[in-house]
Amino acid sequence: MSDLASLEQRALTQLTASADEAALRDWHTQYFGKQGEILLAVKKVGEVPPAERRAYGQEANRIKECLTQAYEKALAAEHEKKLARDLQSDALDVTLPGRPARVGRLHVATRDMRRITAIFADMGFQVYRSREVEDDLTNFELLNMPPHHPARDMWDTFHTTTGGVLLRTHTSPGQIHIMRECCPKPIRVILPGMCYRYEAITTRSEIMFQQVEGLAVGEKVSMTDLKGTIIAFARRLFGKDRTVRIRSSYFPFTEPSIEVDMDCLVCAGKGCGLCKGTGWLEIMGAGMVHPIVLKNGGYDPSRTSGFAFGMGIQRISMLQYGIDDIRYFWANDLRFLSQF
Ligand code: FA5
Repeated sequence: MSDLASLEQRALTQLTASADEAALRDWHTQYFGKQGEILLAVKKVGEVPPAERRAYGQEANRIKECLTQAYEKALAAEHEKKLARDLQSDALDVTLPGRPARVGRLHVATRDMRRITAIFADMGFQVYRSREVEDDLTNFELLNMPPHHPARDMWDTFHTTTGGVLLRTHTSPGQIHIMRECCPKPIRVILPGMCYRYEAITTRSEIMFQQVEGLAVGEKVSMTDLKGTIIAFARRLFGKDRTVRIRSSYFPFTEPSIEVDMDCLVCAGKGCGLCKGTGWLEIMGAGMVHPIVLKNGGYDPSRTSGFAFGMGIQRISMLQYGIDDIRYFWANDLRFLSQF
């Protein structure tokens, strides 16, 4: 019995002295493990004289129970202490304002492309997606530019290693695809997309840029329809008081051909740096679809007519926001992109 009393005393002292969880667990192994002292003490009951056996057994069980409780209490207290320590070292002030997450946005080119598409959608134009990798036939020949036509010089491009396959220089070849798909039905579509040109990169010219092409084909489609569409578009995009000027021009795939200017956004026609003193900003090329192109699309030019236009989206964004260098668009500089 005295062995039991000293065992209890020793175990409790040692438990109190255990400084951390690891020490507590070592203590537990020492007393309650397979070869633990408590278990051995309980087993010893067989060696005790029969008269004392009952009292010994009861006392051994009481000590076992008491030490188990003391251990669980010490372990719980240690967990509490650890939690308090962690809370202090990792203090979190829940009253501080949160850090705002950076919200993404559409690229300015995508946003403007959608705006322009929406304006034409309101006027009944459907969107037709046409391929960026074209053949020479569709990019040039069917648009009335046979091989060696001088106008091809304006539209030099990147050629693939497959002969006659190239990156389109404009969205106009899409006119041929949609006409061949829809003929003889009337057409009213826009064709947005990326174009490529092999030319020197400058503040105003990139080797890749986006265009929106427009095409309307049907009976009695006239120049007046083209003018009305362009003016309505310019006023929706740039403001209701805009003035539009039409100059004659030349494109092999339209006849007559025009170029469309708008009064300068900055000086309203007086002349400034943006419009180079002219008071006008060019916004697109356009014209009545050339009879040869109509025929190449499958339509009979004696009964059908059409208008087409093509504009550069980056140039339009540059005009709207006063962007002075087209290279910003694809440079992925967040200082530029986050302004829109
Ligand atoms: C054309 O590409 C004609 N296909 C447009 C057209 C369509 C005329 C239908 C008649 C009927 P142009 O080469 O001018 O035309 O280009 C049209 C517009 O694309 C230009 O006004 C300009 O805004 C833009 N653009 C042309 N080259 C570049 C370039 N290198 N970088 C950025 N924008 C460009």
